[in-house]
Amino acid sequence: MSEEHHLVGLLLGAEEDWPRAFEALTSRIGVFTHAGRRHVLDTERVRIAPFNLRDPARHQVVIDRLAYWYYHPREWLKKVALMDDVYLLNSPFTFQSMEKHSAYCALIRLGMRIPDTVLVPYKNPIDNVRWAYTSKNYNDPFDLAAIAEKMGYPLFMKPFDGGGWRGVSRINNEADLWSAYDDSGEMLMHLQKAVEPFDVFARALTIGPESMVMHFRPDEPMHDRYQVDHDFLSVAAGQEAVTISQTVNAFFRWEFNSCEMLVQGDTVLPIDYANACPDVAVTSLHYYFPWAMKALVRWTAYCAATNRKARLHVDPDPWFAIGDDPDLSYGDKLVRYQQLADLHFEKDRYAEFCATSLPDLDDLVLEWVSSPQFDRLLLDTVRATYPEHEQDRFIGHFRGLIGLWVGDEASLRGSSPVGG
Ligand SMILES: Nc1ncnc2c1ncn2[C@@H]1O[C@H](COP(=O)(O)OP(=O)(O)O)[C@@H](O)[C@H]1O
Ligand SMILES: [Mg+2]
Repeated sequence: MSEEHHLVGLLLGAEEDWPRAFEALTSRIGVFTHAGRRHVLDTERVRIAPFNLRDPARHQVVIDRLAYWYYHPREWLKKVALMDDVYLLNSPFTFQSMEKHSAYCALIRLGMRIPDTVLVPYKNPIDNVRWAYTSKNYNDPFDLAAIAEKMGYPLFMKPFDGGGWRGVSRINNEADLWSAYDDSGEMLMHLQKAVEPFDVFARALTIGPESMVMHFRPDEPMHDRYQVDHDFLSVAAGQEAVTISQTVNAFFRWEFNSCEMLVQGDTVLPIDYANACPDVAVTSLHYYFPWAMKALVRWTAYCAATNRKARLHVDPDPWFAIGDDPDLSYGDKLVRYQQLADLHFEKDRYAEFCATSLPDLDDLVLEWVSSPQFDRLLLDTVRATYPEHEQDRFIGHFRGLIGLWVGDEASLRGSSPVGG
């Protein structure tokens, strides 16, 4: 029987670790079967070159890590999505138009506990010949200090379309407020009530229908931000974190995203969930890296082999019908959102695919993470990431955390750890 080859494009920035992991795993998987046919995932790093808008795409799926800042490949992604039905993780149609601000608005309407948020007009004039006239005639004067006072300190000021902590400041008093606003210049800023104190910062990485809710410590250096911690949320708060993350993704048609939530007791408050290019570096995810690679490979294989149809645009109606229903409690809404998310990501069909088409993936990943090839990937990444005098310390640090995963995974799977 012949094999159906699916070309998966990796559109990359500066990273080497996860692409190597993805390439290694897909090649170890080789042939898998789905619906009586044999499938193979081929991978290719996407090149950047002039393209004719009529050139057909060769890829079936593209995993994008670049288009959020590099616009030539972004426009290529839009072309292949519109013209060639290429399945994208993530589609620029969703992340470009649905920045943080839209995500706040949608989630507020869905009844999520978004901290009180105000959008403030630009500090500096916009570079446009019409600005002076428009502003003189239509801009209302406003008292920023009074707005802040009413919301109550502490606050956060941050760009409406932010990412990577750019332009984020904590505002404790009026002096901080003016200094942050003066610094904002041409950036459009939100003023948001700080969630303080909070008990835990949860960061959920979601790939297709799979979510990993991790204990995040934003004040630690990158290699220590994700804490290996399995029971840091109650069952209810953990489920709520998953539902919020999957709701965001299903609503906006994001495939690969991370969602930040602050948890006070059992109350979950989402603060940032438009991260279309989430961090998946082995040097930050460490213990959770094997899970992330597994989920990425599985979901890509599923989308390719089942020929999952990409949908370009958001359809908020079924979500808002639930959000707007006055007879439903917050808890009822969460249950229904999870059902919609499960339908969107075809959760049951995906589970069956994982069990029948990739039944050995867990063993394969365990074996690979225990192998010298994985250790080589870790060493190369540490050497490329840290200055020489810190490399030994970090090699030890990450080997320890990966070893911990190997031990945990092996006991979960009822086998003894392979290799070292
Ligand atoms: N409302 C808030 N309450 C408490 N901390 C916040 C709030 N908003 C932002 N922060 C802190 O600032 C960090 C960066 O803000 P965030 O909205 O995540 O922006 P970015 O998109 O740049 O990551 C968060 O990870 C969190 O530590
Ligand atoms: Mg953030």
